[in-house]
Amino acid sequence: MMEWSLPTRWRWRFVAALLCFVGVIISRHEDPTVLSPSVSSLAEETRSSAGCEACRSSALTKLGFTSKEGWRWPSEKEAAAGEFAKDLMRRLLEIHRAGLPGSVLEFERREDIGSEVWAALDLSEGTAYAPRAVCQRVAACSDPNDRDDGSWSSVRVSHAHASRGYPYVRVSRVYQGPALAGYEYNALFKYRWQEFQLASQVYEVVPGRATRVAGVDVWLPSMGEGSVGVWIADPCVSSEFVLCALGALFRTYERTPALLNAMASRVDYWAIWGDNLYDLTGELSREFFDRLSDETLSRILMTTAGNHDYFVDGSPKVATINDQYGNGFMQFYAQDAVAALRGDVFNFSVDPDRTFATHDNATLAVKAAKADISNFVWWHLMGNVAYVGFSSAYDFATTRPYMRDACAWARDTYDAGLAQLVVLAAHWSANDDGAQYGMSAPSMYDRAAAGELGADCERLAAIDRLKFVEGHTHCNEVVVERTGFVVAGQGMSDCGQYAIAVLDTRNATAKLVNFPLADTRGFDQYDIVFDCFLKATNLVADCGYLGEIWLDQSLDR
Ligand SMILES: *[C@@H]1O[C@H](CO)[C@@H](O)[C@H](O)[C@H]1NC(C)=O
Ligand SMILES: *[C@@H]1O[C@H](CO)[C@@H](O)[C@H](O)[C@H]1NC(C)=O
Ligand SMILES: *[C@@H]1O[C@H](CO)[C@@H](O)[C@H](O)[C@H]1NC(C)=O
Repeated sequence: MMEWSLPTRWRWRFVAALLCFVGVIISRHEDPTVLSPSVSSLAEETRSSAGCEACRSSALTKLGFTSKEGWRWPSEKEAAAGEFAKDLMRRLLEIHRAGLPGSVLEFERREDIGSEVWAALDLSEGTAYAPRAVCQRVAACSDPNDRDDGSWSSVRVSHAHASRGYPYVRVSRVYQGPALAGYEYNALFKYRWQEFQLASQVYEVVPGRATRVAGVDVWLPSMGEGSVGVWIADPCVSSEFVLCALGALFRTYERTPALLNAMASRVDYWAIWGDNLYDLTGELSREFFDRLSDETLSRILMTTAGNHDYFVDGSPKVATINDQYGNGFMQFYAQDAVAALRGDVFNFSVDPDRTFATHDNATLAVKAAKADISNFVWWHLMGNVAYVGFSSAYDFATTRPYMRDACAWARDTYDAGLAQLVVLAAHWSANDDGAQYGMSAPSMYDRAAAGELGADCERLAAIDRLKFVEGHTHCNEVVVERTGFVVAGQGMSDCGQYAIAVLDTRNATAKLVNFPLADTRGFDQYDIVFDCFLKATNLVADCGYLGEIWLDQSLDR
């Protein structure tokens, strides 16, 4: 969804407070051409921080974001706004209480950097990107996972597209540094996030047994057997590009990866249903994935693209040529989408930069710049759950052939006694922010139930075996009783919830349990849930008392 900003009166209070700080500090400073201590200490904070989190969540960044045009903070969210305001003021005070170490003086002499810091302080549209540049210039963004030779890599495992057969996985490495050997696909990222390379290949594994392929212990549940998976959507851990309004309150930067790591040995797969980390450049994604354990990374990952994965600010109305148009996303997550069946893993026919170069009209350029749909549609069986992932950003006429094929396959798989449940998975909860007409997750479910995708999905809906999951509205809630669920309470505002959902389909029962972790009213049981997950042999059976049962359905025929 779109981001929020503070009500106007808060905004003016902030600006006034900031001007006050800057004013007081400048007046104490002799030479107005060098950086004021106000700016220097912010820079020092970013420089001395271990990673980039302190940098990104600095008051400076937040001010930059809250001042962006067109952002709203509805009046019913006053409590959250108050939390945000307090946090901001606390940070400002902390920063300005600190003395000035010698290294800052050194920094102050660098006027080129100084002007960037000032640019970051300038609360005008577009400067929201500047704090990251500042961080990098003051070397606050050192990464403990960087090796001396600058090499880095991160594993992705996705289940192969259903048409390849069950026992196949796509194992990929997103990496930097010297070229890796031994993968069928091995290329620099194309169009966006080009600091990364991708090595990728499909391998056969033995389901129900850990199989080592490409240096990774891959686990694929047996075909037709129950499986356990984690669903999240819209995870935010940083306000670098988009205001992650509740990230600091819920501590999502530490907690989301820690929780996934705590669960990893008890789950078969995990899923992020879009708006993956609100990233423009790939660096937030890299940093988040560095916090995941090898075990978590070896688990099968499913994902679908959201509005922020096409346009960082979340809507085609505010998109620019710098946006990724799905290109960074599709390469970083390396799903085995339909494109990979037809060619060399991806369909790169749409070059976003060329699209802009050949269109006079920016509105039309934005519309045409999205990577091809075949990069975002996939389907496969995960134990006994058939998943169909799609993106709402393409119109129905374009999407329908894929969905009809997926439905035919899902019905066959159900009839063969292998799939017990079929899940339509997409990001958008509503037909807005770049979703095409009637293409959101609930709309697609309605189309399926009404037979618009053919008789197969219609039948699956009629016998209560078709479900949908979505993100976009930042809540963890049941959308349609027994049928549709939203799992996007991961740090953005809206419902003010932080929660994580687990689907367990073992023992001929589908149990979907939502575990509330924290909310904006002061509730916080994160530590209890974390401990339980860490010790549990069965997440749902052992820790279910901490959650809400969203679905408890017999899978008997
Ligand atoms: C660009 O195209 C859109 C859609 O056709 C149209 O509404 C808009 O007026 C055009 N803008 C300009 C500047 O021509
Ligand atoms: C690749 O994408 C282009 C542009 O969207 C499309 O015209 C073409 O049919 C796609 N190719 C395949 C093999 O799907
Ligand atoms: C399946 O049900 C049996 C009997 O109720 C129970 O002992 C077992 O723990 C259950 N297994 C799972 C994975 O839930």
